[in-house]
Amino acid sequence: MPPTANEIRQQFIDYFVDKAGHTAVPSSPVVPHDDPTLLFTNAGMNQFKDVFLGQGNREYVRAVDTQKCIRAGGKHNDLDDVGKDTYHHTFFEMLGNWSLGDYFKAEAIDWAWDLLVNVWGLDPNRLHATYFEGDVAEDLEPDEEARELWLKYLPAERIHPGNKKDNFWEMGDTGPCGPCSEIHYDRTPDFSGAKLVNADDPRVIEIWNLVFIQFNRGADSRLTPLPAKHVDTGMGYERIVAVLQGKDSNYDTDVFAPLFEAIREATGAAPYTGELEKPEDVAYRVIADHIRCLTFALTDGAHCSNEGRGYVLRRILRRAVRYGRQTLGVQEPFFYKLVPAVVDTMGDAFPELKKNPDAVAAELQDEEDSFGKTLDRGIALFDEAADRAKHRLAGDAKRPRISAEDAFQLHDTYGFPLDLTQLMAEERGMTVDVDGFNRLMEEARERSRGEGGGSDARASLNDIVQQHDLPATEFVGYDTTELMPTPMAMRIFRLDNNGGLYQNADTIEMGEACAVVVEKTPFYAEAGGQVGDTGVIQVNCGGRVQVHDTIKVGDVTFHLGEVVSGTLAGGDAVPTALAVDRERRAKIMANHTTTHVMNRALRSHVNPEADQRGSLVDPDKLRFDFSHGKAVTPEQIDAVEKQVNDDIAADLTVYAKVAPQDEAIKINGLRAVFGEKYPPKVRVVSIGVNPDDLLADPANSEWGGYSIEFCGGTHLPSTGVAEGFCFVGEEAVGKGVRRVTALTGAAAHEATAMGERLLNRVQALSDAAVEELRKQVDAVQREIDETTLPLSIKARLRESLDALNKRIKEASKARGKESEEQVVVAARAIADESDGPVITARIDDADGKSILAGMDVIKKRHPESAILLAGAASGKVALAAAVPKPLIGKGLKAGDWVKHVAPIVGGGGGGRPDSAQAGGKDPGKIDEALSAAEAFATEKL
Ligand code: SER
Repeated sequence: MPPTANEIRQQFIDYFVDKAGHTAVPSSPVVPHDDPTLLFTNAGMNQFKDVFLGQGNREYVRAVDTQKCIRAGGKHNDLDDVGKDTYHHTFFEMLGNWSLGDYFKAEAIDWAWDLLVNVWGLDPNRLHATYFEGDVAEDLEPDEEARELWLKYLPAERIHPGNKKDNFWEMGDTGPCGPCSEIHYDRTPDFSGAKLVNADDPRVIEIWNLVFIQFNRGADSRLTPLPAKHVDTGMGYERIVAVLQGKDSNYDTDVFAPLFEAIREATGAAPYTGELEKPEDVAYRVIADHIRCLTFALTDGAHCSNEGRGYVLRRILRRAVRYGRQTLGVQEPFFYKLVPAVVDTMGDAFPELKKNPDAVAAELQDEEDSFGKTLDRGIALFDEAADRAKHRLAGDAKRPRISAEDAFQLHDTYGFPLDLTQLMAEERGMTVDVDGFNRLMEEARERSRGEGGGSDARASLNDIVQQHDLPATEFVGYDTTELMPTPMAMRIFRLDNNGGLYQNADTIEMGEACAVVVEKTPFYAEAGGQVGDTGVIQVNCGGRVQVHDTIKVGDVTFHLGEVVSGTLAGGDAVPTALAVDRERRAKIMANHTTTHVMNRALRSHVNPEADQRGSLVDPDKLRFDFSHGKAVTPEQIDAVEKQVNDDIAADLTVYAKVAPQDEAIKINGLRAVFGEKYPPKVRVVSIGVNPDDLLADPANSEWGGYSIEFCGGTHLPSTGVAEGFCFVGEEAVGKGVRRVTALTGAAAHEATAMGERLLNRVQALSDAAVEELRKQVDAVQREIDETTLPLSIKARLRESLDALNKRIKEASKARGKESEEQVVVAARAIADESDGPVITARIDDADGKSILAGMDVIKKRHPESAILLAGAASGKVALAAAVPKPLIGKGLKAGDWVKHVAPIVGGGGGGRPDSAQAGGKDPGKIDEALSAAEAFATEKL
């Protein structure tokens, strides 16, 4: 019996731990939260990048792990191969052993050979190795050393030189890199695979890559030697499983079998048969691959969206869903149903999968639902586009091409990403006009920019970081909001008005936008949900920058602002004072500390399992998203609010302490954001309990009752400073996630005072006459809708208003009959007085229903006239119009008529040419509306 996939993973790790003193470390999240140069974690070495660059340390120098990787965008992108072959994946595991400045080539090669041949028993005659042949342009020597080392185990004819593409490994456009030596496995029956090494042939596949990291590729694309030499090895887990289980395809192993079974169940398709070309089998492979990718990415905190990483995920999902619909013929959402199969097969190796699979499935289902709405129509449009393409071809030999316009419409209206359209085209032997598509996209972008969307400053700042050697910024603003620095360097960049393009400026004049970088700052840069600080930077030469936002790219802080006096002279400018807007910051701190207090209270009173899903802390409010399957009840809102206010009244001390992550993580009750990768040193923020006590006795069950979080934000010295707290919003944001919004301090007091004023007003209405009630209830309702009020008061207001509305309704019912009669009487009088082709009139106390009764009366008496009536009742306007056929023929249509008039009374409506109705909310404008009606009709007739 060959080992199972799970056993193989463990054997790899055990080998390096037992044999060679490696430390087993966990995979980092597949979403790199701290590396702006990376879309997804694309290799095991990502989490060690700081060590390789000489910027970080670990407590070990040898490590072993399995790393979750996604290669679906950026430099390493396997998306297009998935499904079509047997050994590429968007999501895969990479088994790796690491030397952080410790051992080098000889040990790496010896252990690789020992594990493959002696432990796993692979036939040595099936193994080939490659080494770097050197590169003259880059001034890199051939890696003779690796070749020599391989000669110990392999004959020369199975050691192959390879070029820079295959044998010089780089993580991206920039970053650590070095020559590599790959191990390939030959599956040919007659051991004839030498020629197939690196030939993209499934019979000889690369199983392990040993990289000898020695250089950094800079933003200027030059190589600089690193301070130390490292080993980074990566073995394709799914591939080695296939080899050890004697299978020709990764998809024929127990890594994928349970997923195929789940797909079969969810779609009702015929079972997977392992054929390379059969469309159903391609669909099976794509779907199985993609559900792994999406489940891991969402688990680690990514979301589907319209840009960047989120759009890559959305594209992947849409591909899978399209295969399900078109190839496997399933009509209902099915993709989300596969999440449990991923969790079952991989949850033991990656326990994070078990944390909240329901939320992952719910998000996928939402995505699937929304794409499902346009998918069928999109497929139909694609078919038409393909037909058009064939006709255009008119018999010449070239392949038909889907037009740019069709591809753009598929994208814009039906949500078909370009690569999906390309894939569908390819299935029919067609191509897509990609250049034309890109042009149309660019035009659309231009249009939306013209409509006022500013360009993204962050993208330009990324460029700045890539191209300039900027120092990491030290944040000194935890205890102070002002810094009078001893002379320190300052870099200034000019931004264009959209915060977009920039220049490394010599001088920046008054009124110009700029980004300032200094070594030390009290300005907090947006992070962890807390917004960036604003304030002022004073410069020696009399220049002054008003900072309107502070953001961070990597570890460089940018103060974004505008020169408000003097001129900044690039080379000479030195800051003399950096002053944060203190009042604003104080409000932010109150909201941030209270977010922590509230987080704990939510867990006690609403859901002990609630995980933070996002937060926003600004000077005006705090907003917090958390996992919870249903609405928070009014009783729970009250309980949490009371608890938070009690904690504020108790004026608990807020502590912050930087501690080693591996110690701090053990603290019982600690809240960390799930999926976030924390650095080796973390800042523990605890409320009402000293971190020293927590760290001295981490397992103590008492800690569960406190707020303890990893957090880099700025906080109050004690909770009492927040003064007060109230919820002002509670809503759903996607399935399984709720959002609460709340206020503290003066804002909370004001909202409460306002709410109480409204309550008094409503209570005073209890004895009012019905007419008065009608007027007031609408006004109060509008005010409630437009004002930020505490939820608890809102609930009481709603109750009181419901009771009042009930009274109004009963009175109206009784009066309905009476009022209709009055309207009819008034209509008769109008009919008596009117004459001519156009009649416009006002009827007081007529609502939408009774005005029609009035219309009937006038119509009967003046069948040849066009009539428009406006009624006003209970603060609302009712419009009705009727136009007889001969006048319609002249160009006056009742529908157009009310459409023209209704906006004047603050409403809208319409209808048929012969009769139409509309409503409005501004009775004061009825006369104006009637004049306009008169003019409109006269002009037409
Ligand atoms: N970094 C190398 C790769 O991804 C080896 O781990 O192939």
